[in-house]
Amino acid sequence: MKINGKKYKTIWFENNVVKIINQTKLPHRFSIKELKTVKDAINAIKEMEVRGAPLIGATAAYGIVLALIENNCKSFLNNAYDNLINARPTAINLKWSVNRMRKRLEGVNSDDLINISVIEAKQICEEDIGFCKNIGLNGLKIIEDIYNKKKDTVNILTHCNAGWLATIDWGTATSPIYHAHQKGIPIHVWVDETRPRNQGANLTSFELNEENIKNTIIADNTGGILMQRGEVDACIVGTDRTLSNGDVCNKVGTYLKALAAKDNNIPFYVALPSSTIDWELKNSNDIPIEERNPDELSSIEGLDNDGNIRKIKVYPKNSRSLNLAFDVTPSKFITGLITEKGVCSASEEGLNSLFK
Ligand code: MRU
Repeated sequence: MKINGKKYKTIWFENNVVKIINQTKLPHRFSIKELKTVKDAINAIKEMEVRGAPLIGATAAYGIVLALIENNCKSFLNNAYDNLINARPTAINLKWSVNRMRKRLEGVNSDDLINISVIEAKQICEEDIGFCKNIGLNGLKIIEDIYNKKKDTVNILTHCNAGWLATIDWGTATSPIYHAHQKGIPIHVWVDETRPRNQGANLTSFELNEENIKNTIIADNTGGILMQRGEVDACIVGTDRTLSNGDVCNKVGTYLKALAAKDNNIPFYVALPSSTIDWELKNSNDIPIEERNPDELSSIEGLDNDGNIRKIKVYPKNSRSLNLAFDVTPSKFITGLITEKGVCSASEEGLNSLFK
């Protein structure tokens, strides 16, 4: 998608260096950062210079490329695998992509390791673009149906950033929105601010603006009253891990939106590529929920009057805060899963009908 009218992907490999859009600087500064070592890749994931489940998976794949360029001895590589998987605990895409790279590199002789790893990491990125494009085409039908009944602007509510910045291109939750916009369907997006890191305000609104899609940022607790007023036609969110029973783990606050949607008979969809399905874990209580630094809650960053990015404290000095980054929405609150293979119910049968 575009920034300042120029097409970008979120990650690419050039002259033995991985390049990323540094998302901690958006929306106020657009900057491209170079990752030169596996440590750089791990830090970029931990510090959320790259974030969003598919993008951190892709960054981990390129992290392995960087590890091989640095030092292709077995123990260095094994450490790289473990450290990349552990960089953030909740998104399953990290484990998925590292295991895929590990499997691909098994038995490859050392002269070919770097070349093969680059090909595989690029392949992971290209596949993700294809997955997200198809998610868009499958989700487009849902938006078209709403528009055909309503004959007026379709209002979608989304949480956090499951946009192209969270993937390589197109996004998951935003891909149906981009496709609908390109088809000329009038669309407007309610963007949950998504405290504490404000990925909705800083990233989703930013990327929708760049594509000229109407959107309004709302405080995280506003979705409920908008639903009661009939101002939301559907919710579409992303996910960091979806279990085979259809339970969805996503940015904290997703669950509350799903409850409000259920109470107001508003369809609640989750968009995901198959790389986000955890086929192994059976119980959502076992999903590791990332607990981030409470400082992300007690401080806030923005532009001062001189145009400098500043961070200020907003909480009482002695107050404690808790920063859980994800929650789980039980499948019973989910109308459907929008995947690259089609839309299915949030259930074992639904997922099996598309993927097994
Ligand atoms: O903590 P973040 O910014 O990585 O969280 C991102 C989300 O919660 C997204 O909804 C999710 O990763 C889906 S990405 C297409």
